[in-house]
This record gives sequence, C-alpha cells and structure tokens, in this order.
Amino acid sequence: MLARVGTDIDTAVSLLQQGEVVAIPTETVYGLAGNACEPDALLKIFEAKNRPHFNPLIAHTNQLDKVQEFLAPIPDIAYSLAESFWPGPMTLLLKKNDQLPDLLTAGNPRVAIRVPAHPLALDLLTQLDFPLAAPSANPFGYISPTTAAHVAAQLGARIPYILDGGPCTIGIESTILGFSEEGQVIVYRIGGLALEQVEKIVGKLSILSHSGRNQPKSPGMLNSHYAPTTSLYLGDVQELLAEYGTEGTGILSFSRLIPDLPGIVQRCLAPSGQMEEAAKNLFAVMRELDRLGLKRILAEKVPEHGVGKAINDRLSRAQEKMK
Ligand code: TXA
Ligand code: MG
Repeated sequence: MLARVGTDIDTAVSLLQQGEVVAIPTETVYGLAGNACEPDALLKIFEAKNRPHFNPLIAHTNQLDKVQEFLAPIPDIAYSLAESFWPGPMTLLLKKNDQLPDLLTAGNPRVAIRVPAHPLALDLLTQLDFPLAAPSANPFGYISPTTAAHVAAQLGARIPYILDGGPCTIGIESTILGFSEEGQVIVYRIGGLALEQVEKIVGKLSILSHSGRNQPKSPGMLNSHYAPTTSLYLGDVQELLAEYGTEGTGILSFSRLIPDLPGIVQRCLAPSGQMEEAAKNLFAVMRELDRLGLKRILAEKVPEHGVGKAINDRLSRAQEKMK
C-alpha cells in the first residue's frame, strides 16, 4: 500500500465509512483519523502509529451537539470554553457514558473531544455521522507532522490516503483541558491555545505537573516525546557550544542566527520575532535538522509568553530522550 495524497473529500469520506484510516489536516498538526465508534478502525490507528494501547485518542467532531449522545452532562464551564475556542486548538476531557469503545479512551472515564478549525477537516466531519478518533499522524514518540509530505514520509506505506490541507497554520498540538470535581480547570497539555487566553475566561489555571515516566496521567505529558532521532540539547547555545564543540553541530534558535559561526547549520524559528510564526515552523525545522545527519542539535528556549510555553515544552521533551 502506498498512500495517495490529494484533496478529495469524497475519497476520504468513503474510506472512513469503510472502517479505513485516513490522514487529515487540522490547524494544529495532521491527524491519523478513523471512526471513533469502531474498535477495528481504532486498532488500525494504533498499529499504523506503533502506539501503545494505554494511550487514549482524541475524538474530533464538527459540532459538540453531534457527540452529546456519548457524554454525561457537561459542566457549564466546558460550554463557555467550547463557545469561546471551538473550532480551534483546544481539547476538552469530558465524562463519557458507556457507548464509546474502551480502546478510544484506554478505559478512562473521560473522553477527549476537539472541534478542529481547518476547513477541509470541518467539511469532512460534517459529512460523517460519527466522530473521528485522530492522534497526530506520526510514529509514536516522534515529531508531529505539519504537512502532508511529513505524513507521507513516515506513514505513507501504512495508510491508503492523505488528505492534503496545506501546511498547518498553528503548528503545535492542541491545549488539553480537564475539570476537577470542584469545577477547577486543569491543563493536561500545554499547546496551540495560549493559557493567557483560557485564563481570560476561567481565571487562574492549574497545570498538571509532569508525571512519572511510566504512569502518565496524559501520555502527551510523557517526559520523552516529540523527539527527533538526533540528540537535542536545550539551553544557552554559547554554553552548549563550549561544551560540545562545533563539529557536526546544528543550531536551532528563536528569531536570530548566532553571529560568527561559519560553516555551522543554523535555523531560526521566527525571523519576524512573532511567536505564532515560531510555533508554525517548529516541527518542520526540527524534522529538517533531523534529516541532515548531524551529531547534535543545540536549541535555545523561546520567550515564555503565548504559545512560547508550548514550544519550550516540546523542546524540553525532545531533549528528554537524552537523559
Ligand atoms: O492538536 C491535536 O490535539 C492533534 C490533532 C490531530 O487534533 N492530536 C493529537 O493527538 O495531538 P495525540 O494522540 O498525539 O495526543 C493526544 C493526547 C495524548 O497525550 C493523550 O494521552 C491525551 O491526549 N488524551 C486523550 N484522551 C485522554 C483522556 N481521556 N484522558 C487524558 N488524556 C487523554
Ligand atoms: Mg501525538
């Protein structure tokens, strides 16, 4: 099997209705989609990604109403968030009833729901009468894909179709929010929706601290994740250069190249200095550096505002592989 790449929604609809998996564009990253109500389709997703079954999937819909039948009553605060940020880069953990396959949620009493803000994804979801389970369309643990070509490079031999919606406009996975029994909003994964935005609606947030390596509360919070094959070190680039030297070294910086380093591969995430631009470029630049056969990548942190927090989170998880 070699995936066809195209923009034909009818092809995607018919494959998904037959229980097949299809890579789909979203504004955050590309997803590997299948019928969320069909255990066999879910198994195909886990298999194509080589993903452990304990790691639950996000169910995507074009309208919260369409998945109400699978959910327990929803807290008011969740409705406010949905109204403010859907369609968009936010996932909500909501209590489910017993109508969804256990494989979708890995036995978790809550299901992750998201309404993505990509026109092709919304078009596709509108034509389907079931939600789409879709993890990021990358092999487990590797960098998420932000173009159809990224998906084709790694999963092309394992799936029949990649719906090409162009480069992702946000470029970093959704922010995952859950709710405590007391109605407190908890951040399970920092992502494409800036926490400052969420705090405008719900007040001060608590962020789930990184959990242990083998017992993640949300496996996207696994310490090592989003990792390139090449070793990546995060910190002060000048200090790292003094430690590791320049031979075989590549540098990933925020908005400016480091001067006086002839012959060294350097990429910056956002020549404009805009954080959104950095997020949009992050995974493509990590992949590009990872293909060059470097001995190591030295990366600097970006400023900690807006989606900068999510960028630093992904860079530090990319580094964790080394420890
Ligand atoms: O932006 C995104 O969220 C992308 C696009 C395709 O929508 N999807 C994505 O999916 O990043 P994935 O599977 O790579 O990451 C989803 C994260 C995982 O860390 C998973 O553990 C967590 O969501 N998750 C899913 N269901 C959960 C649940 N019921 N409770 C806690 N965590 C959950
Ligand atoms: Mg993922």
